[in-house]
Amino acid sequence: MRKLLPLLSSNHAGGRSALTCRYRCGDACFHEVPNTSDNEYAGDIIAGALSRRSVMRTAAAATVVAAAGGAVVANNAPSAEAAATAFGGHGHGHGGTTDGARGLRFTPVAPNTADQVTVPEGYAQNVVIRWGEPILRGAPAFDADKQTARAQAGQFGYNNDFLSLLPLREHGRQVLVANHEYTDEVLMFRNYDAANPTREQVEIAWAAHGLSVVVVQEEHRSGKLTPVSRHYLNRRLTATSEFRLTGPAAGSDLLKTSVDPTGTKVLGTLNNCAGGTTPWGTILSGEENFNQYFANGSSATDKRYGLGTTATERKWERFDKRFDAAQEPNESHRFGWVVELDPYDPDSTPRKRTALGRFKHEAAQPRLTRDGRPVVYMGDDERFDYFYKFVSSKRMKKGNSRSDREHNLTLLDEGTLYVAKLTGDSPAAEIDGTGKLPNDGEFDGSGVWIPLATGDVSHVEGMTAEEVYVFTRLAGDKVGATKMDRPEDVEPSPRSGRVYVALTNNTDRGKAGKAGADEANPRNLNKHGQILELAEHWDDPASDGFAWRLFLVAGDPNDPATYFAGYPKEAVSPISCPDNVAFDPHGNLWISTDGAQLGSHDGLFGVATQGERRGELKQFLTVPKGAETCGPIIQDRRVLVAVQHPGEIDGATVDKPASVWPDGPGRIVRPSVVAVYRKDGRDIGV
Ligand code: FEO
Ligand code: CA
Ligand code: CA
Ligand code: CA
Repeated sequence: MRKLLPLLSSNHAGGRSALTCRYRCGDACFHEVPNTSDNEYAGDIIAGALSRRSVMRTAAAATVVAAAGGAVVANNAPSAEAAATAFGGHGHGHGGTTDGARGLRFTPVAPNTADQVTVPEGYAQNVVIRWGEPILRGAPAFDADKQTARAQAGQFGYNNDFLSLLPLREHGRQVLVANHEYTDEVLMFRNYDAANPTREQVEIAWAAHGLSVVVVQEEHRSGKLTPVSRHYLNRRLTATSEFRLTGPAAGSDLLKTSVDPTGTKVLGTLNNCAGGTTPWGTILSGEENFNQYFANGSSATDKRYGLGTTATERKWERFDKRFDAAQEPNESHRFGWVVELDPYDPDSTPRKRTALGRFKHEAAQPRLTRDGRPVVYMGDDERFDYFYKFVSSKRMKKGNSRSDREHNLTLLDEGTLYVAKLTGDSPAAEIDGTGKLPNDGEFDGSGVWIPLATGDVSHVEGMTAEEVYVFTRLAGDKVGATKMDRPEDVEPSPRSGRVYVALTNNTDRGKAGKAGADEANPRNLNKHGQILELAEHWDDPASDGFAWRLFLVAGDPNDPATYFAGYPKEAVSPISCPDNVAFDPHGNLWISTDGAQLGSHDGLFGVATQGERRGELKQFLTVPKGAETCGPIIQDRRVLVAVQHPGEIDGATVDKPASVWPDGPGRIVRPSVVAVYRKDGRDIGV
């Protein structure tokens, strides 16, 4: 019988420490929710309330058409039966063996609070790379007490989040790209004085943000990975590296500053959270809680993006006036984008793609239509914010010539940006906010992608195209997008074509003056989050409709307000606060958590999405104290995770650490990337 650990008490949304809230999101959860628009939400909307244009367009695509990849489009308001058909039926058998779906045949790790990475029996692990390890030529070995900005600029950054592994034509080697979301100064600097940071400390923090590119070497016959330092592809991008703004809003007056009158050249990238890997061999990285780095915001748009009206936590504005919105009001407009980086070209200038809109980008995961146009799915991670997609008007070239690559680096500059609006198919009265399933047995319905802008053409009344791109949240408000429970990572299944959206939590849902439960966000004071599954005919540019249903409603399976795609709850692991998602080679979805609220440390889980084991969720690992599990990559022979902010517990400092991971007592705690593989060298989970 499953035994749960006692609940940890935390006043912080998503179970994070005050320290995490302060440094990661600028205490986003303590501020008023920035979305004060009076949008309807899914449960309130009946099909007839949709705009006439949407209804007609969606009706035109009403026939359920099975695409080759299994993706389908449903009609505007499918019955439960129709939606089930759209998704290909439920098809649970629940019989068979107990060893799990292919790819998930491991003994689940029990929930625990061990200060280590705990992996299943028969599995081993190695720390691939730690904060501060030198990766560039000339960078010194890490010494926490002698750290300099110059050293940090050649070393692996802090708080690794998104990970991507790209192939390399060198035997046994791959290219690892990692995001470095934010810095946690009290855990980086001994005796850190938050009221008076030094210039050196601030510059170290600038250099510890951004991205790392580092080639890694596989060990023969195991999944172990080690960094190849000084490889010519190794690279650091920081808060001061040069980036180019491209696409329809580049050069806009809204993006010009006193040092950049062109509105196209930005120094740095900030708060890079999750991301995606493109089929043309680049990576996408989402700039998330950029607002916290800017002081003295005062405009209405600053407010919608959560900029504070006073000094910032890190006080960067004392050292560079661009971080003071009172002096440089447009500088913050140059953050909050999706960054595209070509890791194969160490001299390339990374781009911020304005066509993909500006919000708190969690991630950006692309796939190709059959005729080769990229479709990119994106979440805006804030309570009551939206999720989006971008469809390029250009086709990818499959070759690898210089001109093909140059062409492919323009794919994300032209196309249409859409926001999602969802409609439930059950009567609103059946969605009571407790998570109780409605009478049709499923939280499900239909949706429509509402176009916001195509190139220079705005589809939003009262907003120019440039305004749509720079103030995308306002565009979403105006068209009545559906307010979601923190849309995080989004991942299309390479097998079924369905798209999975992790909704982490929203403890404000249902509070006075805030939107209440709806069918897609069915729990008030939602602590544990849910995962939405979406089926659409994404190949067809004329189709803007989709069918959706909740795949998982997370929590303790003993809690009646949970749902595991209908799978028997006694056979699943407890899960809370889904965040990053990724697919394994077998079509199983892997989910990492951030701020789990069930008494266990955060972890990584695998779940079957198809077949008779659909919904069977198993925990693969847990991370050390205070850490969040990030960046999962599941390859045949290894699982890679980024262990972010280990030891980030209230009151912890360098001298009073809450965690001693990864190097044991007396050594500074270091965010690191970990590879997990089988001791017998065989594939994961088979
Ligand atoms: Fe950086 Fe939404 O997590
Ligand atoms: Ca329903
Ligand atoms: Ca995240
Ligand atoms: Ca992902």
